[in-house]
Amino acid sequence: MRQHVNPLSKNFHEIERIPSLMQMFDNAELNLHLDIGCAAGEFLFDLASDNSNWNYLGIEIREKLVKTAKSKVQKKEIKNLYFVFGNAYNILNDFQSEFIVKNANSISFNFPDPWFKKRHYKRRIIQPEFISILSNSMKKGSFIFIKTDVKDLFDYMDCIISSNLNFIKIDKKDFNYSASFNPNKLQTNREKYVINNQLDIFERIYFKK
Ligand SMILES: C[S@@+](CC[C@H](N)C(=O)[O-])C[C@H]1O[C@@H](n2cnc3c(N)ncnc32)[C@H](O)[C@@H]1O
Repeated sequence: MRQHVNPLSKNFHEIERIPSLMQMFDNAELNLHLDIGCAAGEFLFDLASDNSNWNYLGIEIREKLVKTAKSKVQKKEIKNLYFVFGNAYNILNDFQSEFIVKNANSISFNFPDPWFKKRHYKRRIIQPEFISILSNSMKKGSFIFIKTDVKDLFDYMDCIISSNLNFIKIDKKDFNYSASFNPNKLQTNREKYVINNQLDIFERIYFKK
């Protein structure tokens, strides 16, 4: 399967119809966590089974992964997990899906694609305009979590989010995970690989003022 798709391709301009939270989840009143670039969603399957008091929504640009994840949700009758296919920027920049960010208690970007060549930086998911769109809709007291094993990418993402005055940086050692979307600090697939290979992980949390 192709590992990388160009998010700027016109294939992703049209977005699927996004159902309401009531259609996505059994109990739409639960806290909502949004994971951007969730791949096959294993991390979200683990989270959803670990924390029945949260709803989890994953957005992924590789359609086949989303189709498989969706059928697994149906087969296992999981009521607090939903997947959406497409470019997260196009989806969340659309008025019909504004409600997702408005209702999210937290948003994660776990090991996003680094796109190492400078001329490809614009393909990176975190861009000033995207962060501005998120920050305009995010509720006060909600969080963004970023994690990567690529130091340059971390500095790039940190610079963009920190430059947005709506966010305050929090160090993970000062963060109370017990009330978060991931109280047991479950790991993503990439995170497991990085830990097994003893590579560094760079991470930060941002609080929406
Ligand atoms: C390196 S993988 C990390 C997967 C997972 N978060 C983890 O930590 O194991 C990055 C994922 O982000 C997806 N992705 C990249 N750009 C995206 C975009 N604009 N919108 C949605 N998903 C995107 C990729 O297809 C890929 O599955």
